[in-house]
Amino acid sequence: MKITIKDIAKKANVSTATVSKILNNKDERISKKTRERVLLIAKENNYIPNLMARSLVTRKTNTIGLVLPDITNPFFPELARGAEDKANKEGYMIMYCNTDDDAEKESSYLEMLAQKMVDGIILTQSANKEGNVESLNKLKIPLVLIDRDINVKNIKGKVLVDNFSGAYEAVDYLIKKEYKKIAYITGPLSTTTAIERLGGYTKALEDSGILINFELIFEGEYKAQWGIDGTNELLNSKVEFDAIFCGNDLIAVNAIRTLKEKGIHVPNDIAVLGYDNIFLSDMIDPPLTTVNQPAYKMGYEAVKLLIDVLDNNKEGKTIKLKTNLVIRKSV
Ligand code: RIB
Repeated sequence: MKITIKDIAKKANVSTATVSKILNNKDERISKKTRERVLLIAKENNYIPNLMARSLVTRKTNTIGLVLPDITNPFFPELARGAEDKANKEGYMIMYCNTDDDAEKESSYLEMLAQKMVDGIILTQSANKEGNVESLNKLKIPLVLIDRDINVKNIKGKVLVDNFSGAYEAVDYLIKKEYKKIAYITGPLSTTTAIERLGGYTKALEDSGILINFELIFEGEYKAQWGIDGTNELLNSKVEFDAIFCGNDLIAVNAIRTLKEKGIHVPNDIAVLGYDNIFLSDMIDPPLTTVNQPAYKMGYEAVKLLIDVLDNNKEGKTIKLKTNLVIRKSV
């Protein structure tokens, strides 16, 4: 029969409150002797705390919801790993949800996490986000944004990346390598990451006196298929180009593949530059020159920020991390 806190209290000849404090590490003012006696009885009787009962009392589950848009994109598992390592260090568990960049799925996951009484949520918003701001504004759970920014009210903090500078540095590098007709195959411009990268792309061209040719900008998804379709659209447009700046590495890897299938040499004929620096990017031929995003650190810092708000009553804040250009052989 399962032993309860009441049974332990009886055997140790202390109150149930004392046992509960000891089992919840809230036993500052209890003697070492009593503490050791209670813990020994609990161990000898295989006491297993009823976490749900404890959560109802403490209103804490030590669980964080991590809501990300695409688990098949290696950028997000790297981010999730950083989040998981920090959560684990602090005695928290991560409950991971994959929204497939679908706003409907995202809002039902947010609802489910609220019902599961997670202590906080870390969210990268899905690209198709109509209406989600509404459900986010109603959310009663501390929320930290990561990677993609959103204009919602009750945000406890944000961990973002300086995508404008990351894209500016990338395109400026192409220009310094004498590429002048630079196409941009972007991710969804409903995301702040794609918008900021577009800003960096256009500013770098302007600062070098290169006229922006909007026929060289193709908007799509942060998906491998868009790397193929976007490159084909660019080739079929017959607009002249000598380099492609890609919204992320999945697009870039498949742009290279598409160009090579048509007998176009990368980089001698066309240069290709990516964004994210996923593990695949240095495994392809030629290895991809790309903008490194500190995905692991983003996840780690987001959990640190949220736990500081939850456990240490710290004020939320916005953290903006830097990127760095990783030069390989595709430019
Ligand atoms: O690769 C997926 C993209 O979506 C990344 O660049 C990340 O910034 C996210 O916005």
